[in-house]
Amino acid sequence: MDKKRQPVIVDCDPGIDDAVALLLAARAPELELVAVTAVAGNVGLDKTSLNARRVLTLAGVEVPVYAGAAGPMFGEQVTADEVHGADGLLGIPAPEPAFSLGEEAAWDVIWQKALSYGGELEIVATGPLTNLGIALTKYPQLPAYIKRIVLMGGATDFGNTTPAAEYNIYADPEAADMVFRSGIPLVVCALDVTHKAYFTQAEIDRLEALGTPQAVFAAKTMGFGVEWHQKFLVPGAPMHDPCAMMYALEPELFGGVSCWMGVECQGKHTRGKTVTDAFSDAKSPSGSNAVLVNRVDRAQFVEHLIGRLAAYGTT
Ligand code: RIB
Ligand code: CA
Repeated sequence: MDKKRQPVIVDCDPGIDDAVALLLAARAPELELVAVTAVAGNVGLDKTSLNARRVLTLAGVEVPVYAGAAGPMFGEQVTADEVHGADGLLGIPAPEPAFSLGEEAAWDVIWQKALSYGGELEIVATGPLTNLGIALTKYPQLPAYIKRIVLMGGATDFGNTTPAAEYNIYADPEAADMVFRSGIPLVVCALDVTHKAYFTQAEIDRLEALGTPQAVFAAKTMGFGVEWHQKFLVPGAPMHDPCAMMYALEPELFGGVSCWMGVECQGKHTRGKTVTDAFSDAKSPSGSNAVLVNRVDRAQFVEHLIGRLAAYGTT
């Protein structure tokens, strides 16, 4: 008997690595991709909500896409177009969307689907957590109806946007703080693991050599990252968002530690930093609220990610 598919909403800011995560989700036999919700982040909401539909069209699926927040709940908007390009996909050719944007707001869809799936819905979040922050504010009962959030975000040591903060958390610390305090079970794929989950140039070349439109597109999103991440002493392109998606699909490839994690919203130098008691003797009195993922079998991660994209070519 087929294993029951896990209903999932992907909340994202595509974004070159979000795009690869969406390609993995779109045809994953483990998932029922219920909806995609777009948020402003790497680029503006108009582009992230368009890119989500372009990538799903490239995947050959029509999954409803809904637009959410056009900026953070508080504070100034910070984009990452220096990494993702002005259009959010580095100008890499991708089809025009085969379907239009859904009418409802992302936070309303998250609530409606959480209710309709009776607490079985999971969220994979690969952008700033603004949509979830708004959903939690508008629907205080939401935590009772979300089974788990697997998110890409945070870092226990250095950040990639400030010395202290990783982009997704820094882009909206208050929303992230709401998610981390929500009581919803969290799996946090921070830079601690995503910097270990990298593709070398040779592996990117192997992916591109598959020759399918999806594999070529994914490979083209990765090349930029190899050089960009040398300053972080990472010998390849970290697969930030694909890491969160692969955890949702194949958690056995990863390892982590149950711990308390919180978000600093006030610090002059540390706003947006995720703080954890994972490696401290000083444990938080509020107990564990997250699994911090910090280990990956990189060779298997690479093989299985390539295998999943190669599967497009056989259908
Ligand atoms: O820090 C990496 C994260 O920021 C990824 O989600 C990437 O898409 C950017 O949003
Ligand atoms: Ca992202």
